[in-house]
Parts: sequence; structure tokens; C-alpha cells
Amino acid sequence: MTEQQPAPENPEGDEPIKQRKNGLYPAVSDELAASMKSGWADTELHDLQPVAQAAETARRRAGLSARFPGERLVIPAGNLKTRSNDTEYSFRASTEYVYLTGDQTQDGVLVLEPAGAQGHEATLYLLPRSNRENGEFWLDGMGELWVGRRHSLTEAERLYGMPCGDVRELADALREATGPVRAVRGHDAGIEAALTDKVTAERDEELRVFVSEQRLVKDAFEVGELQKAVDSTVRGFEDVVKVLDKAEATSERYIEGTFFLRARVEGNDVGYGSICAAGPHATTLHWVRNDGAVRSGDLLLLDAGVETNSLYTADVTRTLPINGTYTGLQRKIYDAVFEAQEAGIAAVRPGAKYRDFHDAAQRVLAEKLVEWGLVEGPVERVLELGLQRRWTLHGTGHMLGLDVHDCAVARTETYVDGVLEPGMVLTVEPGLYFQADDTTVPEEYRGIGVRIEDDILVTEDGNRNLSAALPRAASDVEAWMASLKG
Ligand code: GLY
Ligand code: MN
Ligand code: MN
Repeated sequence: MTEQQPAPENPEGDEPIKQRKNGLYPAVSDELAASMKSGWADTELHDLQPVAQAAETARRRAGLSARFPGERLVIPAGNLKTRSNDTEYSFRASTEYVYLTGDQTQDGVLVLEPAGAQGHEATLYLLPRSNRENGEFWLDGMGELWVGRRHSLTEAERLYGMPCGDVRELADALREATGPVRAVRGHDAGIEAALTDKVTAERDEELRVFVSEQRLVKDAFEVGELQKAVDSTVRGFEDVVKVLDKAEATSERYIEGTFFLRARVEGNDVGYGSICAAGPHATTLHWVRNDGAVRSGDLLLLDAGVETNSLYTADVTRTLPINGTYTGLQRKIYDAVFEAQEAGIAAVRPGAKYRDFHDAAQRVLAEKLVEWGLVEGPVERVLELGLQRRWTLHGTGHMLGLDVHDCAVARTETYVDGVLEPGMVLTVEPGLYFQADDTTVPEEYRGIGVRIEDDILVTEDGNRNLSAALPRAASDVEAWMASLKG
């Protein structure tokens, strides 16, 4: 990286230049400062088309407006977060902001201003293009010379279909404004500080809950993006199978890196930390250290999802035999999880209770555990007491969308206790996990973990498995791996 140098005592320019975060400026001669002000072409873009989801974001803002009439609503994208010293994590805009604007710009803020009978007027507050007169564009840490060209506010208006303003003036304006206001918390400390005397946690939470519930049913744009995320994820799984020998020679990190390459080339990122769990690591639900050995004869549980450039993520798991063939016991456990997943997927249809697919999958797993003599039946007793959960560990799925665990603050009555509707997308992901130190199961079970996870769209008459291109049945998985390893 290039470090900026100490500031001169009197920075050149019409107005003081904003302090870079690390407080350093390069030394600037008068001649250089004068030179840097001019000689730059006009690069304004005049033929920009609205983003693909502009009509959908407008409809979502209208829904929000109708729910909170007469109230100012503030939805920040969020700010960069420090990783270490003057380096930051890569930026990922808040889900609420992306959902309501289609934009992903750091420090951006959407404000819905009450506008009488028209409901609200939406304005997007963004950092404009850098000023070249005062040197900001090359001397400030957020200057375009350092971080790249931004859209002008006029360009942003075309892209996002609403008026845009300078975000540097927003905090003061919010401080001075009167009237009821709500904000989505947790993303932008500066905006929250400006509103601190005007908002309450309870009212703000109602705003967040509403946007979470708006996202329960996906529109056609969102389903298309989720399908893209899944399709890239399928290719990422194929990439991994092709390099399992290299992973055996190194570690689980080779798998993580291989999948990440696909995610970065075809999308924005991975939607969550990839779980690349070989051997007994498969029994650790969120194994993301990925620093273990990859051994022939063991299973690899790979739980990974590409996040598209629009920020929709897939969430897919396959449990693969590293050498291409399941052992007898691995296959017995795999087949049980597969059967549970089949039962779960069959329970996904409009009008079904959200809990049905979980209950259907859990019942199959409980039956298997009783059949194998690992827990004393009858099955009804096991289910009633939840005894299967020692080995099934987690819920059988969740909503999927911009967040991997999407709609996370939707109310119980609309989500977990709710009813499935066409357009909902959820994962179905039963698993069985026998910990390496579980002395209640025969030794040969210990260290085996299996999960199978697919992304399921609720349709008008049932469901569609968005990740069906990735084989699930044990024999199909083996054949697929053999074809890829050629
Ligand atoms: N990858 C996290 C989950 O499956 O929910
Ligand atoms: Mn997953
Ligand atoms: Mn999941």
C-alpha cells in the first residue's frame, strides 16, 4: 500500500481539506497544487440507464411510506470498518439500504421525508464527486484519486431513480429537523449521533422489523438473482471437486480459496464464511477456520455460497467423499440425511406451515437414530423430548435472500409461526453430526458429520429447487465427482 505523507501547515485550496483518517497529508508545493487543479477532462456520464431493480426498489419504498405515514425514515448504508490501523474490511452495504435503493455506496443514506398527501419523498444522500479546486480529490483519503471515481449526484439520480443530495450535509440537517423520525440502527454511528435525542430503540426496531418482513416474499428480480447466486455456487463446488488432490496436499484452505476465486470472479464475495470441513471438522457447525488436513477416506462437508454483485447469496451444502466413494457407514448416514431432506423439501408448498419442513425432516432423522439403536424409541417419545437433537443440532432451514439468514428480525407470527407463500425462498438443510468425543455412539460413527442443503423457492403449486443442478443422491454425487476428476 502507499502511505500518505505528513500534511503541510497550510494546505492549498479554497477551503480546508478534510482530514484523512490517519491524519496525514503529503507535502504540496504551490506549483503542484496549482497544476493539480486543472487539465482534467469532463467525464460526466450522460447515457446511464436505471439499475435493473429500480422499479422494485420504488415499490418497496412505497410500501415503507404507507406503513409509516408522516414520519421521517433514515436508512444508512453503513461505513467502512477498521481491520487494523489504517486498513479496512471490504465494504458491504446494509441489507435494508440495498433493498430499498439498489445502491451499495459506503456512507450513503436513504431518507424518506414526509410529503403530505404524497406520502414521502425519497432522497439518496451520497458523497459527490471530489472537488478538484480545493485539492480534495487527490489529498483527501476519500478523494477519487485514491479510491476511484464515484458517480456524480446527477448520475446517481439516473441510476437509482430519486433525487440525490450531499451526504456531508445530512447529519446537520437531521439534527435541526423537527417531527417524528425513525432510523435503521447499527450501521452509521455519525447519523445515529445526529438523531440521538429524536429516536427510541423500540420505534427504530419497528422500522427494521417492517423491512425484514417486506423481504419475506421475493419478487421476480430477487428470484433471478438468487438463481444466479446458486448457479455460480454450483460452479464453485465443481471447482473444488477438481482440486481435491491439491487440498489433500495442503489443507482445507485450498478449498476455501478455490471457492472464493469463483465468488469473486462471478459475484461480489462469498455470502458468509465458507465452511470447508474435512473429517471430524464436519461435526462443528460453523467450522470456518478451515486449517485442517484433507484426507482420503474422510468426508468433506462444504457449506458455501456465492453472493452476486447485487448482494443476493446462495447457501448450499454438500458432504462429499474426498476419494470419490462413500464408505458403507458414511453412505448409511448420508442416505438418512438425504431421506430427511427429501421429506423436508416435499413439505415446502404454499399454505404449508413454515415449521412443517423442519418437523418432516426431524421425524425421518429420529426414526433412523432409533432404528440404529442410538436412542431408545419409540420415535414419538424421541421427538417429544427432542432427544434426536443431540445429533441433529440445528433447525432445518431459514429464509434466504440478501442475507444468508434472511428476514432475521421478522416477527415470529410472520416467519417461524407463519405460512409459506409463493415467492419465499428458504434452505432445507438437515444434518447428522457425531462428535469425535461422543461416547454414546459406536466408535465408528464418531467424527462423521453430514449435511445436505438446498435453496428452495416456494411456487404457486409446490416448490422449485434452485440448486437442483448439484447432485444430492449418494450415487449421483459419486458419479458427478468421477466425471469432474476425469
Ligand atoms: N451457512 C450457514 C447456514 O447454513 O445456515
Ligand atoms: Mn449453509
Ligand atoms: Mn443455511
